[in-house]
Amino acid sequence: MPLPGLRSQWFLWNPRWTSLLGSAPSPPTPVAGRIWVHSGPRPQRPPCTLIPTGYAAIWHQTRIRADLFDAVENFLDPMHTPFIHPGLVRSEGARSPTRVRIERGPDSIEAIYERPRHSGLIRSVFGLSIDQTRGRFRPPSLVELDYLAQGSLRLRILLGFTPISSTELGLSVGLFSPLPRVVASLVSLPLLPLLHLALRQDAAILALKLDHESACFSDRRYVHTPNDLLGPHILQWMKSARLGGRNREVTVLL
Ligand SMILES: [Fe+2]
Repeated sequence: MPLPGLRSQWFLWNPRWTSLLGSAPSPPTPVAGRIWVHSGPRPQRPPCTLIPTGYAAIWHQTRIRADLFDAVENFLDPMHTPFIHPGLVRSEGARSPTRVRIERGPDSIEAIYERPRHSGLIRSVFGLSIDQTRGRFRPPSLVELDYLAQGSLRLRILLGFTPISSTELGLSVGLFSPLPRVVASLVSLPLLPLLHLALRQDAAILALKLDHESACFSDRRYVHTPNDLLGPHILQWMKSARLGGRNREVTVLL
């Protein structure tokens, strides 16, 4: 699939990632403690505003075998959690209706979940205080997962996907907490093994999907259903470098 928008975008970078879809990235630019590269003419600054000011950051970097669209859509999709992360994020069983608002921003699109039900281990770490979660796609390849309590951001998980080849992505995962760094490190101790496990589960299913589709289909078809709330918007951007859609509200079972 041609990805027209990728030719002129900022990406999170790791010096060990040696290619970017065949293009020659501009010299790395350090901003907010991370390295960014640009795949086209250099604009003013990288999009550092997505890192909340004053929040403690914990970073993890890895590589996964996956298609870029599949990876971005997967991490923004709550529907797969009972199947791929059983007992971790949500458990199988009775589902609860959850109101979701799909909202377009000037340079992003997000799904806002009001009082989402978490039933796995992550709930016991967070407690019952999280009353809203937001999943945001920020082109070209950034995913932000926000966890809020009474309107304040308690945790942001940032996933930055950097294409290395047609079948491999560099993945930078950042955890941002409003707590002082030492406290945030202590609080995150029980959370990090769970997030690493969730990451391995997602990486395994994405690699399986890549292998299956490579073996069975000569051309990627990128099908989606009405349950894929942000999938069509992500796909539209990847095909046309344009974010479409309008604000709407739906109820899903989570
Ligand atoms: Fe997942």
